[in-house]
Amino acid sequence: MIFVRGVLAVVLSSIAGAFSIASNAPGVRVLGLINPILPGWNPDPSFLRVGGDYFIATSSFEYFPGHPIYHSTDLVNWTLIGHGLNRPSQLSLFGTPIDAGIWAPSLRYHAPTETFYLASTARYAYTAEYRLFPRSFFVTTKDIFADNWSDPIYFDALGYDTDIFWDTNGDVYATWSGNNNAIDKIYSIYQNKIDITTGNPLTAAELIFHGTLPDNSTARPEGPHVYLINGTYYLLIAEGGSGPEHRSTIQRGPTPSGPWESNPNNPILFNGANLSLPVQWTGHSDILEAPDGSWWGTALGVRPQNDSMNHIQLGRETFLFPVTWEDGWPIFNHGQPLAEHIPGVLEDKSPLAPYLNDFVSTSLDLGFYFLRTPYKTFYSLTARPGFLRMNANSFALGDRDNPALLLRKQTSYEETFETQMDFAPQTNLTEAGVTIFYSDLLHNDIAVVGDGNGGRQIVTRMNVQAVQVGPWSLTYTNSTITTTNFIPLTTKTGPVKFQIIGNSTGYALGYAEGDSEDFVFPLTIDSELLSIPPFGCVKYFDGHAVTDWRRIGNSGFFFKGAAFGVYNTGNGKPSLAPADFEYWKQTPVL
Ligand SMILES: *[C@@H]1O[C@H](CO)[C@@H](O)[C@H](O)[C@H]1NC(C)=O
Ligand SMILES: *[C@@H]1O[C@H](CO)[C@@H](O)[C@H](O)[C@H]1NC(C)=O
Ligand SMILES: *[C@@H]1O[C@H](CO)[C@@H](O)[C@H](O)[C@H]1NC(C)=O
Ligand SMILES: *[C@@H]1O[C@H](CO)[C@@H](O)[C@H](O)[C@H]1NC(C)=O
Ligand SMILES: *[C@@H]1O[C@H](CO)[C@@H](O)[C@H](O)[C@H]1NC(C)=O
Ligand SMILES: *[C@@H]1O[C@H](CO)[C@@H](O)[C@H](O)[C@H]1NC(C)=O
Ligand SMILES: *[C@@H]1O[C@H](CO)[C@@H](O)[C@H](O)[C@H]1NC(C)=O
Ligand SMILES: *[C@@H]1O[C@H](CO)[C@@H](O)[C@H](O)[C@H]1NC(C)=O
Ligand SMILES: *[C@@H]1O[C@H](CO)[C@@H](O)[C@H](O)[C@H]1NC(C)=O
Repeated sequence: MIFVRGVLAVVLSSIAGAFSIASNAPGVRVLGLINPILPGWNPDPSFLRVGGDYFIATSSFEYFPGHPIYHSTDLVNWTLIGHGLNRPSQLSLFGTPIDAGIWAPSLRYHAPTETFYLASTARYAYTAEYRLFPRSFFVTTKDIFADNWSDPIYFDALGYDTDIFWDTNGDVYATWSGNNNAIDKIYSIYQNKIDITTGNPLTAAELIFHGTLPDNSTARPEGPHVYLINGTYYLLIAEGGSGPEHRSTIQRGPTPSGPWESNPNNPILFNGANLSLPVQWTGHSDILEAPDGSWWGTALGVRPQNDSMNHIQLGRETFLFPVTWEDGWPIFNHGQPLAEHIPGVLEDKSPLAPYLNDFVSTSLDLGFYFLRTPYKTFYSLTARPGFLRMNANSFALGDRDNPALLLRKQTSYEETFETQMDFAPQTNLTEAGVTIFYSDLLHNDIAVVGDGNGGRQIVTRMNVQAVQVGPWSLTYTNSTITTTNFIPLTTKTGPVKFQIIGNSTGYALGYAEGDSEDFVFPLTIDSELLSIPPFGCVKYFDGHAVTDWRRIGNSGFFFKGAAFGVYNTGNGKPSLAPADFEYWKQTPVL
C-alpha cells in the first residue's frame, strides 16, 4: 500500500499483474513509450521544462478547478500537482455553457525572474447573441508546487490560445488566434508586444500568419507557440479545426513576427491523412529540449474505439513523442503518425493506475472536479468520519449550473467505477447516486430516489441527444430525450452499492442493495451517447466502409470526455437528506 497525499491508494494485484505483461520480466527496463501519457481527457497540452522538472498544463472547459498541471522528472511518471485556476476570483463559471469555460493554456517560465506564467482563456459564453471572442489572461507563480497562482492579468485583444514569448532583447510578445470579424470568422494568428506586468498592449495587434490551409472559416489556425531555437524563430500552430482535420504545422523566420518560411514537410503531425489509424485528431503541439539535448513534443489525440469516431468517449488525451531535427526543421516522431506505443524510447510503463479513496482523509486529493464554480461547499469529509458526505442542492445534473456533483476523469476505455452510498430520501424529489458524465446534456445516471410513500427506489436515466435547433445549435429546448426507469428497493435506509462498468463501446450501470454483492445492471448504454452529435462527429459510409469522419454542420463542440461522478440533488428544491459515500474505487484495465 502507498499513501498519496493522505489518501489510501491500494494497488490491486490483478492490475499490477496486467502491467507486467508490458515489461517482459519484472525489473527489466523495456524501452518504449506508452501513450496517452495523460489518459482520460486532457486536451491542448502545453509542455514546459525547468531544470530537471517537466510540466504539462491542459484545458478544463466548464470544470472547476481549471487547468490541471502535471509534473514529471522522467517524462514517464506524471503526477497531478495542482491547477492554475482554483479560486473563484480567478475563475467564475456561472451558467457557462458546455465546452465553453477554460480553453487551451500556454505554460511558460521566465528564468530571469524565476516566474511561471500560465496564459489562458475563459470563454464564459458563446450563444448566438454573444458573438464576441473572449479576452485572454495570464496568472503567475514563483512556486508551481504551491498550487496557488495569482489572480488573472488580462490582455486587451479578443482571441484565444494566447502564447507568451520573451525575446532576447526583453520584448514580450503575446500571440493568439483571433478572427477578422464575428460573422465571417476567418481565423488567423495575431500578435502584439505587451507590458508583461499589466498585460497592456505596447504595439497594435498584427496579423502574422494565415496558416497553411485555404484561408476560410474552417482553416482555424490556432494554438500558436513561438520559440527561438539556435537563433531562428519558429511558429508552431494547430490547424484544420479540432476534429479529424486537426494537425500541426511549423514556420520559421528571422523575427518573432516572421516573415515565415513554411516547412516543406508540413503538416508535421497529421494522423487524419489515414483515418484507419488508431489515434486521430492529432495536433495542438508544444515542444521542448531535455537536458541531454534530446527534443520532445506533446499533442492531443483521440482513440476511436471499434474503428468508430462515435466511440471516443474518453475525449482528447495528451500524447508524447520524440522530436528530431533535420535542416533546421523539427521532425515529429520520426515522421511517423502518432501512436499508442512508440518503441525504443523512455520506459515501457503504463500510466494507468487503480484509484481507491476510502475517505479517511479529511480533505479531497487532487483529481476531483466540480461542474462550474461551486457557490459554496456542498461536501464534507468530517461531518461523518470515514465518509464523503454530499449535501444536496437544488440543481440537477441536467441543469446548466452547479449541481452537488463530484467528478473524476475516466482514465481507460475499460474501467469500472464502484462506490457505496448511505441515503434515506425524504421525498420523491430527493435523489442521490452516480453518473457517467460528459456534460449537462450528455450523462447517464443510476441513483436512489424517494418513492413518494416513505420508501425508496432505484432510478435510471438515459439521455439521448436529439437534433438541435437554432443558428448555433445552442437552443437546448429539445436537445435531450431522457428515458427514466424506476425499480423498487426493499430497504428504506442502509447501504446501496453502485457500479459503472465501462468498455470500449458501452457502459453498464448497476446497483446492489444492502450487504449484497450481487449487482443488477438495469441500464446499459452504447458509449456513443457520450460522444456523438450534436457534440461529436458523424460517420460517412461509401457503401462498405467508413470513408470519412466529419463534424456535422452545426454540431457544436466535443471538447471534453467522460468522468465518473457522485451526486445529490433536490431536483429543483432544497433537500435536507445527505448522501454519504463510503469509498470511491476506479479500476482501469490496460
Ligand atoms: C511517480 O512520481 C511520484 C511523485 O513524484 C512518486 O511519489 C512515485 O513514487 C513515482 N512512481 C514511480 C512508479 O516511480
Ligand atoms: C495565494 O495567492 C494569493 C494571491 O497571490 C495570496 O493572496 C494568498 O495569500 C496565497 N495563499 C496562500 C495560502 O499562500
Ligand atoms: C475551406 O476550404 C477547404 C479546402 O478547399 C474546403 O474543404 C472547405 O469546405 C472550405 N470551407 C468553407 C467554409 O468554405
Ligand atoms: C543548435 O546548434 C547546436 C550547435 O551547432 C547543435 O548542436 C544543435 O543540434 C542545434 N539544435 C537544433 C535544435 O538545431
Ligand atoms: C492506414 O492505417 C492502417 C492501420 O494502421 C494501416 O493498416 C494502413 O496500411 C494505413 N494506410 C496507409 C495508406 O498508410
Ligand atoms: C463494432 O464495429 C462493427 C463493425 O463495424 C459493428 O458491426 C458493430 O456493431 C460495432 N459495435 C458497436 C458496439 O458499435
Ligand atoms: C412526486 O409526488 C408528488 C406528490 O405526491 C406527485 O404529484 C408527483 O407526481 C410525484 N413525482 C414523481 C416523479 O413521482
Ligand atoms: C426539436 O425541435 C425542432 C424544432 O421545433 C423539431 O424540428 C425537431 O423535430 C425536434 N426534435 C425532436 C427530437 O423532438
Ligand atoms: C460493453 O458494454 C456494453 C454495455 O454493458 C455491453 O452491451 C457489451 O456487450 C460490452 N461489450 C463487450 C465486448 O464486452
